[in-house]
Amino acid sequence: MYKKILSTVIPPSSTAASTETLPMKTTTDSPSPSGGSYTDMFRRRNLTITLLVGVVIGLPCLIYFNDMIPSQLLSLSFYDSSSNSIKVDARLKEVLEKAAMKDKTVILTTLNEAWATPNSVFDLFLESFRIGERTQNLTSNLVIIALDGKAYKRCMEIHPHCYALTTSGIDFSEEAYFMSADYLVMMWRRIDFLRTVLEMGYNFVFTDADIMWFRNPFDFNRFYNGSDFQIACDWYNGNSRDVNNSPNGGFTYVRSNERTKKFYKYWYEARQSHPGKHDQDVLNIIKHKRSFRNIGLKIRFLNTAYFGGLCEPSRNLNEVCTMHANCCFGLDNKLNDLNVMLNDWRRFMALPEDSKKSWKKSWNVPQNCSLGNFHPHPSKKDAKQEKIV
Ligand SMILES: *[C@@H]1O[C@H](CO)[C@@H](O)[C@H](O)[C@H]1NC(C)=O
Ligand SMILES: *[C@@H]1O[C@H](CO)[C@@H](O)[C@H](O)[C@H]1NC(C)=O
Ligand SMILES: *[C@@H]1O[C@H](CO)[C@@H](O)[C@H](O)[C@H]1NC(C)=O
Repeated sequence: MYKKILSTVIPPSSTAASTETLPMKTTTDSPSPSGGSYTDMFRRRNLTITLLVGVVIGLPCLIYFNDMIPSQLLSLSFYDSSSNSIKVDARLKEVLEKAAMKDKTVILTTLNEAWATPNSVFDLFLESFRIGERTQNLTSNLVIIALDGKAYKRCMEIHPHCYALTTSGIDFSEEAYFMSADYLVMMWRRIDFLRTVLEMGYNFVFTDADIMWFRNPFDFNRFYNGSDFQIACDWYNGNSRDVNNSPNGGFTYVRSNERTKKFYKYWYEARQSHPGKHDQDVLNIIKHKRSFRNIGLKIRFLNTAYFGGLCEPSRNLNEVCTMHANCCFGLDNKLNDLNVMLNDWRRFMALPEDSKKSWKKSWNVPQNCSLGNFHPHPSKKDAKQEKIV
């Protein structure tokens, strides 16, 4: 369906000359043939707004995007809801193959323009792998899913595995206000994409880019054995099997099998009966349902002692694997606290081995990040790819 809209806008045969062959007429016409399925897909009242965004912002973006990376744009993977099958593009297959570990596991993160600029979240994310314990090699398994042209370009400059994922009509480089229509579309697009990855037979660790990787969770055995779906928590109640934990969708480890494929389909489809809610909210609802239990998904919640965040930090630097800048509002605040976190870690790593073991001090965060900084109506500047709790 994405392709349908795209192919209406960009004739597949005229990649190079696309700028010239994009008459405005075609674009204004395009909502009519594809509008029906688009509505079905997202069932949003603000279809008009979405389409407006598609025409006003999306079109120039598509032209720009197409100029830069024509082949990727025309070979997007997409979920064709009419035939109920996954059409997988060759480029995604190639990227996953190159990045995968021996057991077909990849590490995935999404990136938009705001986070991709130099000295922003993406740089700090990569830096954490460099200074972490046995994390250096993990970047060779890391695939960056770029959500806009600039993020893709920056990724290609500094990282070997980049993939461009777009959703026609939505420009994710724009500031996606938390819980705005575009934010929701972005989050759900992510779930749909991860489902595709599972269908292709790859296991993945999905990590938000504002999660610092300080220790290799595979090498240090911090994942559960024999589990299908493991998810980090904002707050952990001490029982990894208790669905009453507060999961955070920013960090998941999922094995590809029939149960997880079924579950991601179920999760993605549940958005339709819960309009206006994001993936994490919907997960918190469906996890209590009988229909969810019937899938038989082996779900575990990860301990914040190893997979911590600003909501509930991993107090012991000898045990921490990852730290998430969750419970944080505003990109500047987030960057400030991520830098403090990285400095804490550098200081810890510089200690002699004995001092490390007896090290009792925790993080100097949260500082500028805190729930107290939460403003329901963020200024435009503060709302870039924001994610709270
Ligand atoms: C990382 O990769 C290098 C080169 O492939 C290898 O020599 C090294 O042992 C690896 N390190 C770890 C911690 O796996
Ligand atoms: C998982 O299994 C491996 C060996 O099979 C073991 O070393 C490790 O401790 C186990 N991890 C957990 C979290 O139980
Ligand atoms: C963080 O907070 C401190 C103290 O409130 C303030 O001086 C500083 O400017 C803030 N930093 C950022 C990046 O907002």
